[in-house]
Amino acid sequence: MSAADLSTPLKFAYWVPNVSGGLVVSTIEQRTSWDFDYNKKLARIAEDAGFEYALSQTRYAASYGADKQHEATSFSLALLAATEKLKVIAAVHPGMWHPGVLAKFIITADHISNGRAAVNIVSGWLKDEFVNFGLEWLEHDERYVRTEEFIRVLRGLWTEEGYSQSGKYYDINDFTLSPAPIDVPGRPHPEVFFGGNSTAAQATAGRVADWYFSNGKDLEDFKDNIAGVQASAAQAGRHPRYGLNGFVIARDSEKEARDTLREIVAKAHRPAVEGFRDAVQEAGASTKDGKGMWADSTFEDLIQYNDGFKTQLIGTPEQIAERIVEYKKIGVNLFLTCYLHFQEEVAAFGTDILPIVRELEADAARSAGVDFDPESTLAAPASSTAGVR
Ligand SMILES: Cc1cc2nc3c(=O)[nH]c(=O)nc-3n(C[C@H](O)[C@H](O)[C@H](O)COP(=O)(O)O)c2cc1C
Repeated sequence: MSAADLSTPLKFAYWVPNVSGGLVVSTIEQRTSWDFDYNKKLARIAEDAGFEYALSQTRYAASYGADKQHEATSFSLALLAATEKLKVIAAVHPGMWHPGVLAKFIITADHISNGRAAVNIVSGWLKDEFVNFGLEWLEHDERYVRTEEFIRVLRGLWTEEGYSQSGKYYDINDFTLSPAPIDVPGRPHPEVFFGGNSTAAQATAGRVADWYFSNGKDLEDFKDNIAGVQASAAQAGRHPRYGLNGFVIARDSEKEARDTLREIVAKAHRPAVEGFRDAVQEAGASTKDGKGMWADSTFEDLIQYNDGFKTQLIGTPEQIAERIVEYKKIGVNLFLTCYLHFQEEVAAFGTDILPIVRELEADAARSAGVDFDPESTLAAPASSTAGVR
């Protein structure tokens, strides 16, 4: 397992609600909108509240009730232009994009935002999006073969001149993208996040991702995920960092928070959740070892479609902060969070939960005999091979 980094503050991200219906498939009231004005205000609230990242979803067709969707890269670019500090991560599917086109797009976004553009490379599960676009739908593990090549092309074009790469899916011949991405100290190129849970996803992430992003997990399951990524990262001499999804329900009392979860579940949109459950069989459950994302998710888990209840960030601010720091101790570097009422709850996270997290992080570091520097950033780049040209 990777050693926890107790000297560096945890980072926080939120899911950009760029698809309709909120982040739970339930008819409970969600004061969250998918439109741009709402999101612009949310992004500014988030950066003021201490969030370092925002993650947009890529979705082309209705699923889990999200019947309207804004495109991730354009939406992310607009959010970058509307903010000062926030790093915005756009989710992208290999197979929908050529990596050279994406590399160029992200360089432009990086220049517009002064070095705040990032990507989340996701290998996909919604077969109909590909098939109905007339694109090839690869079998599960093959998707990761393409994803690995895709990320290598991105990194090559961002960091080298005259870059060439010849593989099964891409052939790049002596290509130089100019300008290069912005030169940010400690960042060899725009950060590459990678979402996935299966054995193939973990192995691939270890070889090429800067950040491994997981669906919600309990502590034991997340330890297993980290170990899986770490095993392949060690062979490649790399040190990826770890991000975990969690749905936050912070209330004055634990009972109130639990009651809110019960109401979300009681008001679940059953046909939409069941349709989603059927569609995600294309993901982890279809793998040879059946260990992928959503493979062991119950109906209740799937109501938050990235298994966010499993992380159990549910209770009072103190309870949630304690839970967050427990995850830090097993190796989590970043929490990806979602809420019922994004604007209000992201702001409340910053005032009510974050200060307690920082205190507990300082305590944890002290107990382990390491210095905690609240200002420090994660300095070690994940890839020791990438140079900045
Ligand atoms: C944090 C995170 C974000 C994701 N975002 C998207 C997304 O925006 N669009 C999408 O189609 N899939 C998304 N996925 C799902 C992946 O594309 C993939 O289908 C999923 O991880 C299942 O793969 P696996 O069976 O190999 O684990 C995301 C996954 C994670 C963990």
